[in-house]
Amino acid sequence: MNPDPTWQDELDVEEAMAGPGRVIPSGPVPDGPTDLSTTYLGLTLRTPVVASSSPLTGDLGSLKAIAAAGAGAVVLPSLFEEQLRDEAAALDALDGLGGEANPEAISGYTAPLDDYNDGATRYLALIRDAAAAIDVPVIASLNGVTEGGWTRYARLMADAGASAVELNVYRVAADAQVSGRSVEDETLRLIEAVASSAGVPIAVKLSPYWSSLAHLAPRLVDAGAAGLVLFNRFYQPDIDLETLRVGPHLVLSSSDELRLPLRWCAILHDRVGAASLAATSGVHTPADVLKVLLAGADVAMTTSALLRHGPDHVEVLVDGLRDWMQDRGYASVHELSGSVSQRSVQDPAAFERANYLSTITTYASTFLR
Ligand SMILES: Cc1cc2nc3c(=O)[nH]c(=O)nc-3n(C[C@H](O)[C@H](O)[C@H](O)COP(=O)(O)O)c2cc1C
Repeated sequence: MNPDPTWQDELDVEEAMAGPGRVIPSGPVPDGPTDLSTTYLGLTLRTPVVASSSPLTGDLGSLKAIAAAGAGAVVLPSLFEEQLRDEAAALDALDGLGGEANPEAISGYTAPLDDYNDGATRYLALIRDAAAAIDVPVIASLNGVTEGGWTRYARLMADAGASAVELNVYRVAADAQVSGRSVEDETLRLIEAVASSAGVPIAVKLSPYWSSLAHLAPRLVDAGAAGLVLFNRFYQPDIDLETLRVGPHLVLSSSDELRLPLRWCAILHDRVGAASLAATSGVHTPADVLKVLLAGADVAMTTSALLRHGPDHVEVLVDGLRDWMQDRGYASVHELSGSVSQRSVQDPAAFERANYLSTITTYASTFLR
């Protein structure tokens, strides 16, 4: 069911779709089911709606509900480099684990791991339980920025049953001695290390704060990223005026935040070879899902909307996507994907600086009228 009668009106893309390479369906598909499947990280997903990493996906009951509601895949919450560094050193001391680990070996090492940090042990068990309980790919998540022994957890995650690993390179580059190039190079080395040992595809979750993302993106893919997740949302600190303390301030997103991943999916579509694109930040409604797919994403990831409305909201997104496709005559998500990307639209500059100029001019003329 469509929860919001206005979202379809808002999604008027026909004009933009008239560019090169566009296939505009002629009308509703007569019969036959709409094919909602998509390819992400080389995996076939039954729908392009993916539950991104959050505490919700750390709970087996919620994971089952998310899968039952029609998600194409789930991304578990992250294990963090800081959390794993000491454990990795401990793992070095354990015979027979490392790169050759398997689920049995992992369970055998539960006790020693518990001595250091039971977070990782429980996490690997969650992967195993989730992979056994739900019929969609389980993507594990690692969060870190520097190379080190902790990266072997990608392999342990794969051995525990993860179909892929998402590597979140969340970083605030606040060291004045470290250049942008160094940050990029360090990230590339990290991806190489994780991708070469994981044994499953690696997605890299990025922040939007890179000086030349169009240049960096193919290098990330060359380093081993099978997909890019655009974008991680930074949780900015705030100042409490009563206590003058600085603290974290987590606010769930709204659909307004969709524009940033939308733009970059549109720009990077067809520029990263066979690598996949996932949009995250601001996916709340079926219209949001459609927009990022049209722009060039292979999947639409959502967290805030699921935290706000519960796992069943996945069904709202999937049903709305299917309804719109049927109304417009799209037979498959593959047909839809990227059809309003920068390379497909008549006015590619709409995704770049020219759009900024026209936006402020439009606003000024309304304001001054
Ligand atoms: C409470 C909370 C916890 C999150 N934890 C993680 C995490 O462990 N790892 C990660 O990569 N992203 C994490 N995220 C980010 C989400 O996966 C997602 O990328 C972000 O919230 C933007 O999507 P949204 O607009 O749909 O919320 C978290 C988000 C929230 C709100």
